[in-house]
Amino acid sequence: MWIKSYQFTYQRLFRPLIFGSMDAQTAHERILSFLARADQHDWVQSLAQALYRRMASFESTHVGGVTLDFPIILAAGFVKGQGFATEDEAIQAVERGENIIPGWRTMPNIVGPVEFGSFTRYPRLGNTGQVIWRDAATRSTQNRVGLKNPGARAASLFLAKHPPKKPFGINLAVSPQVTDPDQEEAELVESLQLFLEAGVLPDWFTLNLSCPNTEDDPRGHQTEEKARRLCRAMVAQLGEIPLWVKISPCLSTEQYAKLIGAFAAEGVRAVIATNTLPQPTPTDAEVTGGVGGGRLHMAALEATRHLMEARREQGYPVDVIGCGGVMDAKSYQDFRNLGVQAVQYWSAFVYQGLWAYAVILRK
Ligand SMILES: Cc1cc2nc3c(=O)[nH]c(=O)nc-3n(C[C@H](O)[C@H](O)[C@H](O)COP(=O)(O)O)c2cc1C
Repeated sequence: MWIKSYQFTYQRLFRPLIFGSMDAQTAHERILSFLARADQHDWVQSLAQALYRRMASFESTHVGGVTLDFPIILAAGFVKGQGFATEDEAIQAVERGENIIPGWRTMPNIVGPVEFGSFTRYPRLGNTGQVIWRDAATRSTQNRVGLKNPGARAASLFLAKHPPKKPFGINLAVSPQVTDPDQEEAELVESLQLFLEAGVLPDWFTLNLSCPNTEDDPRGHQTEEKARRLCRAMVAQLGEIPLWVKISPCLSTEQYAKLIGAFAAEGVRAVIATNTLPQPTPTDAEVTGGVGGGRLHMAALEATRHLMEARREQGYPVDVIGCGGVMDAKSYQDFRNLGVQAVQYWSAFVYQGLWAYAVILRK
């Protein structure tokens, strides 16, 4: 009843209003500045928690070593923080008491499990100009945010001061311009250590092996050898905290089989399939951006199918988490039919609003 009324109001009133009055990027910026303010207010948090108790009466699940109230997680890229030019600037902002990760408090209270990040070892300002689009006809999003984030040191200091509600995850990526294998490994290990030493202990860490939205590395070079090396180095740091890995759509069947084999060998607990699909952006066909939502759905399902097949055939103890175009009960069921225990979503947030998870899970 609550969920049905919410869905009706969002789809008939709020979505037409938002879509009719502003582009995707403006809407995204407005929601982030609203969240930055909302994070400060206890009454907003109490209201969000009360609504959560109303909305979130679904079956709990255990996936990738983590127990969740329900099998759906807000994907990385929403609660990821502001970009900074230098680490000093980012740290000074934390010291001044600025909210450098808008939504850190409000989003987990509204939607439950959230994957924070991606964070890179050093801050990034990301790409300039228009970097987020929506394609309403196919319920898709496209972005070339370019890993804008405050960097692991400032993010760890901030989250140590402001511990998010559990369960939550932290997604880490290598800086896109880094190609030297030792430096890649060193960046990830240092980032992990910064969080762990600051006492920020998420329920899982995710290695983002797939950063399609930066010009430097459109396919993420997700080789078996690289996956093994990076996962081994991270698992060695993590102790009891599970490691998940996020990969791209449209790799070959063999590559998916090799990657999940590598994850199993290195003790990775779950693989997220998938990140966005690189395609020409609407405003400049020479520039690519990552597509999520409806236009990603079939490719993400295909990736999931290959991973699930290899998992079944080889008995790998690695869970698969579907991600790509989970918009409603039907698209969610598409992943469930392949045997996944949980999914992640981002674009549904645009098309179904803040309580998208409840709309998706509603029978
Ligand atoms: C604006 C935007 C920023 C994103 N940033 C990240 C990121 O920093 N790290 C990451 O792993 N995925 C990022 N993603 C990808 C999403 O987490 C998700 O994998 C993708 O959008 C597919 O899910 P969807 O079809 O539900 O949108 C981003 C997506 C969007 C739309």
